[in-house]
Amino acid sequence: MEYLDKIKEFVYQELNNDYSGHDYYHALRVLNNAKKIMLEEKNDNINDKIIYISSLIHDCIDHKLFCDIDMQIKKIIKLLKDILNENEINEVLEIIQNISFSKNKKITNINAQIVCDADRLDALGAIGIIRTIEFGAVHNRKFDNEENATINHFYEKLLKLKDLMYTDTGKTLANSRHQFMKDFLKQYYLERGDK
Ligand code: ADP
Ligand code: NI
Repeated sequence: MEYLDKIKEFVYQELNNDYSGHDYYHALRVLNNAKKIMLEEKNDNINDKIIYISSLIHDCIDHKLFCDIDMQIKKIIKLLKDILNENEINEVLEIIQNISFSKNKKITNINAQIVCDADRLDALGAIGIIRTIEFGAVHNRKFDNEENATINHFYEKLLKLKDLMYTDTGKTLANSRHQFMKDFLKQYYLERGDK
């Protein structure tokens, strides 16, 4: 799939210098998760190409990573012009603008649901723990023992995600990653010397 190489090259250029858990390899893992979910979900409206592209580029318009979002959208439209028609480009833009947890928006489009679940899976488990600590470090936060400590993020977001998955496959994949994070926190408190 030649078009995917072109998209990957773009995403690599855009996210290569990120150290907050949103780099090129996050994008590749989201693509991989989305493929896993798609294989199991039965729905006539699933569009492979839309899902692959949205998975790869979803963080290229994240306001935490880019200050000029209009500029990012322009770059994406330019990239996609030779690959998708206008309706498809609009669908991709809508998906990547709506999947953020912080937006807290209920998603009904199956392609968006799959990309959203794929992104959320990468916030969970061993990888989720690593990304969270990386994000905290980049934002000068300690893991624990200060007001905005990174550990709070587990309770504010990460441990809630398994109940917010849209697809059955996403839910199943989320369960073991959720349990791993709970085990991690339990072990952390044990080593820290709580009870
Ligand atoms: P979304 O795209 O769903 O809004 P984010 O980009 O905010 O999600 O979060 C992606 C990942 O970045 C999180 O799963 C987490 O690992 C990390 N992250 C985001 N916000 C924080 C935070 N306040 N503290 C620690 N990690 C964070
Ligand atoms: Ni993401």
